[in-house]
Amino acid sequence: MNDKLLSERLKMVASFVPEASSVADIGSDHAYLPCYLMNQRRISHAIAGEVNEGPFQSAVNQVKRSGFTGTISVRKGNGLEVLEPREVDVITIAGMGGQLIRNILLEGIEKLEGVSRLILQPNVAAHLLRERLADLGWELVDERILEEDKKIYEVLVFDRGDGNKPYQDLSERERAKALLFGPMLTLERNQAFVKKWSHELDKRERILRSMENSDATSEKEVQVKDEIQLIKEVIS
Ligand SMILES: C[S@@+](CC[C@H](N)C(=O)[O-])C[C@H]1O[C@@H](n2cnc3c(N)ncnc32)[C@H](O)[C@@H]1O
Repeated sequence: MNDKLLSERLKMVASFVPEASSVADIGSDHAYLPCYLMNQRRISHAIAGEVNEGPFQSAVNQVKRSGFTGTISVRKGNGLEVLEPREVDVITIAGMGGQLIRNILLEGIEKLEGVSRLILQPNVAAHLLRERLADLGWELVDERILEEDKKIYEVLVFDRGDGNKPYQDLSERERAKALLFGPMLTLERNQAFVKKWSHELDKRERILRSMENSDATSEKEVQVKDEIQLIKEVIS
């Protein structure tokens, strides 16, 4: 694989992998990320995990073509079940929804022993990861947002530590905001961030209009109004 062809999104994920670490990339598809990391001589070895046969075969072929059969082990299985305890330092999970990533981590929680960093790239619902991992003693140490091919992606980096550190001393409302928008992304407020949340604001305003056309005032309506208010506070 030509390294230049790797997406900016996966390059961003790769940039947070510490030198000389061992990595498990779960939901690896073509194993582009582990192959790139090996090509860059950034990691000692990797595991590419895939649950589906097609992407698993693509990963096997890509690893063979790249000449990494001795250092990248391609394994078929669901989530973290492909890992032995204490096999890797870093886990990457990219290109899935936040809920699926969260479930993969929770279902395989015992496999996280010995892992010091999680690099997660949820396509949607990043807040579910911030919320749950804070409770489990994973500290959000970095987060990025970027636009590629008209899509906006978030990359979240967690190390073992005090999960509540990024949110300490915040009021309940400020904490809810930080979990939803990302404490570091909110401070940076770059173009991609403003674009994403302007789009989310439009979506919610459309939903609210359709609710207002119906008679019932529901809990959902209150929630949507509250979210609209939060978004306006953050992007205006
Ligand atoms: C959209 S692709 C993303 C591939 C790559 N990680 C990326 O970011 O470009 C998601 C991949 O995750 C795999 N996948 C979904 N659920 C999984 C699970 N529970 N365990 C392992 N792989 C899974 C799918 O088969 C698919 O290949």
